[in-house]
Amino acid sequence: MSTLITNLGSLVTNDPALGTRTAAAVVIDGDRIAWVGAAAAAPDTDHRFDAEGRAMIPGFVDSHAHLVFAGDRTAEFNARMSGQSYSAGGIRTTVAATRAATDAELEANLTRFIGEALRQGTTTIECKSGYGLTTEDEARALRIAAAHTPETTYLGAHVVAPEFKDDPAAYVDLVTGEMLDACAPYARWVDVFCEQGAFDGDQARAVLTAGVKRGLIPRVHANQLHHGPGVQLAVELGAASADHCTHLTDADVDALAGGDTVATLLPGAEFSTRAKYPDARRLLDAGVTVALSTDCNPGSSFTSSMAFCIAVAVREMGMTPDEAVYAATAGGAHALRRTDVGVVAPGARADLLLLDAPSAVHLAYRPGVPLTAAVWQGGVRKV
Ligand code: NIG
Ligand code: FE
Repeated sequence: MSTLITNLGSLVTNDPALGTRTAAAVVIDGDRIAWVGAAAAAPDTDHRFDAEGRAMIPGFVDSHAHLVFAGDRTAEFNARMSGQSYSAGGIRTTVAATRAATDAELEANLTRFIGEALRQGTTTIECKSGYGLTTEDEARALRIAAAHTPETTYLGAHVVAPEFKDDPAAYVDLVTGEMLDACAPYARWVDVFCEQGAFDGDQARAVLTAGVKRGLIPRVHANQLHHGPGVQLAVELGAASADHCTHLTDADVDALAGGDTVATLLPGAEFSTRAKYPDARRLLDAGVTVALSTDCNPGSSFTSSMAFCIAVAVREMGMTPDEAVYAATAGGAHALRRTDVGVVAPGARADLLLLDAPSAVHLAYRPGVPLTAAVWQGGVRKV
C-alpha cells in the first residue's frame, strides 16, 4: 500500500543529493520511503495526502533519554530555581522511587513519555537504565525499555549505588560483572556518568571496556558539570557519542574533530539546572558532528520536546536553525549509528514529521508553540 504526501511547501531531506526542496512530494510504501521529488512529477499511489504547503522534516531522533523511572523531583527543581545548585547526588532520590515501583508502573510511565515524545514528532528514542543500581533493578529497566525501543543503554554506572557508598570499587566490580551479565541481553549500548560525584576516568574506562567485551557499543556522559576525562576517553574508545560536552578544552574539541564520536548536546539540562550552555558553534566550526537530544529525565531535564531543544540551541548555543534541525534528526541518527532514520530518502524508514508551519525554521522562530501537524512512524500515521 503506497501513499503520496504532496504539496509540501518545504521538505528537509538531510540527504546531500536531495537537499532541502520546495513544492516537493514523498511516497511511502509499507514502512519505507519509496520516492522523493517534485510534486509535479509524483507517481501514482493508492492514497494521497495533501500537505497544503506545510513543511516536512524527518521524525526527530532523540538519542539520549532516561525514561524508566518512578517519582518526580519537583521539589528539587523548585529549590534549584530558588538558588540551590545541581549535583549528581539527586539521582539517588529517583533510584529509591524506581526500586519501589512495580514493573507495570515503570512500563506505564515509559509508554506515557514515549507517547508524549511521539506527539511532538520524535519517532526514534533511546532509553537508558540507571535508576535501579542493583542487578535485578537494572535488568528489569532494560527488559521493559527493550520492549518499546531497540535503542537501549545499560547505565548501571549512573552513580554509585547507596549500598556501596563506602566501597565504590566494589560497585564498579558489580557493574562490570554480574550486573553487566544480566543486562547485556537487553542492551545495545553501554554508558557511564564520568563526573565528579559519579565515576572517574579509570572507573569509566573499566565500565566501558567491560561493556565492549560483552558486545555493547560505548557512549559516555562526559564533561557535563566540570571538565574531566570523559570526552577524550569517549574518542579513544571509539564511542558513538560523548553526551553533554559542556566543559571542553581545545584538546577535547580537537579530539572530537579527529575522531568518529558525535558530540550530543542536551540544552534541556543546562536550562533546568541554570547552567552555562555548551558552545555548539565552536564544535561545528571545528568540524565535529553535533546531535541535539532532550536528556529527558526527572532530575536535570524533564522535557521530551526536541523542538524546545532546537529553539534553545539556536538562541543560546550559536547554531543556525538549519544546523539545529539537522542535529535533532540526522545528528541523532549518527549518534545511534543509524542510517535508516534522520533522513528522507528512498529506502529510509518512513518516519516523517509534518509541521504546522511553512518551514522548519519555525521550530526556533516560534518557541513553545506546538507545531506538530502529523507524524508517520514506519509508514503508519500515528498523529
Ligand atoms: O544526563 N548526567 C547524568 N544523568 C542525568 C541526570 C539524571 C538525574 O539527575 O536524575 C543527565 O543529566
Ligand atoms: Fe543523561
